[in-house]
Amino acid sequence: MIVSLIAAISENRVIGVQNRLPWHLPADLQNFKKITKGKKFIMGRKSYEAADKLCSDAGNVVITRQHDYKVAGGDVTAISLQQAIEKLRGEHEVFVLGGAEIFKQAIERADNLYITLVHAKFIGDAFFPEIDTDIWSVINEADFKADDFNPYDYSFIKYGRKLAARRG
Ligand SMILES: NC(=O)c1ccc[n+]([C@@H]2O[C@H](COP(=O)([O-])OP(=O)(O)OC[C@H]3O[C@@H](n4cnc5c(N)ncnc54)[C@H](OP(=O)(O)O)[C@@H]3O)[C@@H](O)[C@H]2O)c1
Repeated sequence: MIVSLIAAISENRVIGVQNRLPWHLPADLQNFKKITKGKKFIMGRKSYEAADKLCSDAGNVVITRQHDYKVAGGDVTAISLQQAIEKLRGEHEVFVLGGAEIFKQAIERADNLYITLVHAKFIGDAFFPEIDTDIWSVINEADFKADDFNPYDYSFIKYGRKLAARRG
């Protein structure tokens, strides 16, 4: 199974503040929908509770240590990232949506990183882990300027794990 992380991050690696995104960037949302269409999501309990959370119509696994945590509709819970991945066995590709705690644990298992780099610095309380260039290489990148709808320059960058850094 391909495990892909997908995140929008600022130049100082901020991904969130007070359990929400620090920016409004409609182009990122459109790109997110295109990339993740039809795929199942894994996310941390706090991201699942965010006002601006993103859920998959195909299904969502919410990671929590709470055994009685209630999720909506066809969503399910898992007590660890490993269990979340096991619950999605048989899927070709799944997306890990964050937040910071989950990205920190999942980057070691990830095959791809789909990053929207927001070309600005933000104050935040949730961060994406360092992207180690000994492990990750850029597969493709597209750069865009701010426009009437998107107030910051931004880049869509796909990273793949280098062959020499293949997971054991
Ligand atoms: N920019 C982006 O692309 C993006 C994407 C997603 C989220 N975000 C932002 O990220 C922030 C939220 O991140 P966060 O780090 O605070 O929270 P989070 O990663 O979404 O969720 C943390 C929760 O996940 C559960 N958890 C974590 N590790 C676990 C483990 N090993 N086993 C079992 N459960 C585990 C715990 O839930 P319990 O407490 O229930 O046990 C923990 O409190 C928000 O600001 C959000 O807006 C940004």
